[in-house]
Amino acid sequence: MMPAITARAHTNIALVKYWGKADTDLIIPQTSSLSLTLDQFYTDTQVQFDPALTADQVTVNQTVLSPDASRKVRHVLDLVRHQAGLTTFARVSSQNHVPMAAGLASSASAFAALAGAASRAAGLNLSRTDLSRLARRGSGSATRSIFGGFVEWQAGHDDASSKAVPFMEQVDWPIAMVALVLDPHQKKISSRQGMQSSVTTSPYYAAWRDVVATDLATIKPAIQAQDFQQVGEILEANAMRMHALTLSANPPYSYFNGDSLVAMQTVRELREAGSACYYTMDAGPNVKVFCQEADLPVITHRFAQQFRDDRVLVAHPGPGIQWLEN
Ligand code: PMV
Repeated sequence: MMPAITARAHTNIALVKYWGKADTDLIIPQTSSLSLTLDQFYTDTQVQFDPALTADQVTVNQTVLSPDASRKVRHVLDLVRHQAGLTTFARVSSQNHVPMAAGLASSASAFAALAGAASRAAGLNLSRTDLSRLARRGSGSATRSIFGGFVEWQAGHDDASSKAVPFMEQVDWPIAMVALVLDPHQKKISSRQGMQSSVTTSPYYAAWRDVVATDLATIKPAIQAQDFQQVGEILEANAMRMHALTLSANPPYSYFNGDSLVAMQTVRELREAGSACYYTMDAGPNVKVFCQEADLPVITHRFAQQFRDDRVLVAHPGPGIQWLEN
């Protein structure tokens, strides 16, 4: 019997976003991106290859997934089997520790944890770089969740060169990310569909590539210098320019809802009142607010009044992949 291995990976929020693939099969992105791994939201995944199984069995939060819903998981398992020279099916059991179901994307932490658990359960001892390449095949953003702190996903041009590189794993800087859960339901347009439509139909896509190159070149020294204002200004502008690709696609669409706009306005008001903070958004209506530890009481109080206490979640920089004792 092969061992059951459990891995834990944390989610990450991109400060310079990934929005578009150059290769949809291998998930090679159009541009590099840079994120912050968070401590509060993570996935624990256990994998065991078992000769008694006649198919892969995938359970997420105690629910067995249909073959269709588990397609991406089985794709990653196939890659692992191929590398390890195995034909055995696996039992995968995953638990998402995200405070409100579906309120925040879990694919980054889920596929990073799967890569870590499945590879070791198959007897492979992959480097973290190779784990990031394997996680990438499940979901692009998962590439970055292998490492902690600030992480760059270098676009590369093929399977070998498209990988995550830690930019600053130990973050000795009192910053926080406040996640506002504005709509806990499943997103209507997946990131996969949304980014593909932006690449093929937005007339601004070429400009986005230039935006990302400039933002990466300026955010890195700003992070190193712990220049909070500059990092905040870059990440906020970058997120809005990403969302401009959705509005300029054909047909146009948007991830914003009314509360997203209200939350962004509140961030601007907080800033004017002296609590420096900046917003970012991904492929859904939830707003994430980048701020400094000292301003957390004022900021969280304001959002708790505006929305609800349990919709305001505070996270800090988090660690890279870990393996747990079974
Ligand atoms: O890799 P996916 O399908 O989770 O897409 C991620 C897209 C964004 O979250 C919007 C941006 C990013 O870089 O994480």
